[in-house]
Amino acid sequence: MTKASTWRVDCIVGARPNFVKIAPIMRALRADGRFRVRLVHTGQHYDVAMNDVFFQELAIPAPDINLEIGSGTGTEQTARIMLGLEGVLATDRPDMLVVVGDVNSTMAAALVAAKLLIPITHVEAGLRSGDRTMPEEINRLVTDRLSDLLLTTEREAEGNLLKEGIAPSQIAFVGNVMIDSLHASLERARPVHETLAAHGATAAFIATAEQGFGFVTLHRPSNVDDPATLRGLLGALCDIARELPLVFAVHPRTRATIEANGLGAGLAAAQILATPPLSYLQAIGLMRAARLAITDSGGVQEETTALGVPCITVRDNTERPITVLEGTNALVGSAPERLRAAAREVLSTGGKTGRVPEMWDGKAALRIVAHVAAFLERRRPA
Ligand code: UD1
Repeated sequence: MTKASTWRVDCIVGARPNFVKIAPIMRALRADGRFRVRLVHTGQHYDVAMNDVFFQELAIPAPDINLEIGSGTGTEQTARIMLGLEGVLATDRPDMLVVVGDVNSTMAAALVAAKLLIPITHVEAGLRSGDRTMPEEINRLVTDRLSDLLLTTEREAEGNLLKEGIAPSQIAFVGNVMIDSLHASLERARPVHETLAAHGATAAFIATAEQGFGFVTLHRPSNVDDPATLRGLLGALCDIARELPLVFAVHPRTRATIEANGLGAGLAAAQILATPPLSYLQAIGLMRAARLAITDSGGVQEETTALGVPCITVRDNTERPITVLEGTNALVGSAPERLRAAAREVLSTGGKTGRVPEMWDGKAALRIVAHVAAFLERRRPA
């Protein structure tokens, strides 16, 4: 193919889970040779710990454009991204926009591209929790409605899209690109003792944790924004930590509620190591060695399923049902007593075993690129 017929593709990222998904896609697009790729960062996540470290560890090229929108309500973030991105896409128009996942940046970028009639590929399409109180559910619904090519991670997602009136010809099952990153990175995952020591764990804590520990992340607004809810969950974690030391990677949203309400005191006294957000290689190093994970993150539900580690999800629903149907995931809701009981059960039985879902094989990015190329080929003027 000649240079003149190179397709121009813009990839959008904004927040931590996007980085893990875009890394293999960028690599595969660049390696293919038929694409000129630009990376646009909205700047939704900006801390070094939430951002730069991921770019380094996942070898993501520096963004070509950074809109630096920062924090704000979902509406503020969406509006700022739309204003910033419109200029970028209108002046230098790509043939295709690729968005991943379900964060505010995903939806905002899709809105801008749709208005400019730029075709959109959504990677991780069709996931539905059925819970519109979750900001991500709105983002998923809008992004899928506006997308031209919808690429799914699990078969159930296609059914969701068909029910919403998306044409079958727009949908393709490609597998899970998060698992591409996991496969590509496990060899470089950081050893547990190193990560714990780097975050101030005592020698005694490290020695106990090496006999078994739990890995914890919590950041959903429904779990961490209300101090009473978070207090209850932290109480349950303190009880669980009597039997199993816990490493709790605290998201800035969660830390803000802990600090504003003085909820941190009990953690230090229990066998809980509270750390800042971890790097990707630290997080997967801990996850693979953990006896269990306690989380409300979509990514951790998937990664623990791929690693065969029991996962207790502190939510009433999941948009990733395959992690429950085939994987190691169990939903327990946000009631502290259910969390305690679920952890006790994992500790006494060893927890749920599962199998790795279909096409979570580390090759999703290659299939994504093939579908993007086929889509653009079909639209090529004769
Ligand atoms: C976002 C995504 C969520 C994803 C999560 C992973 C949406 C609706 N939510 O939630 O799907 O699972 O990222 O991390 O897009 N903050 C910092 N430093 C940062 C980024 C954020 O301190 O680098 C603070 C912000 O100031 C804000 C809070 O963290 O107060 C929340 O950030 P925000 O981007 O609004 O959403 P997340 O909760 O991170």
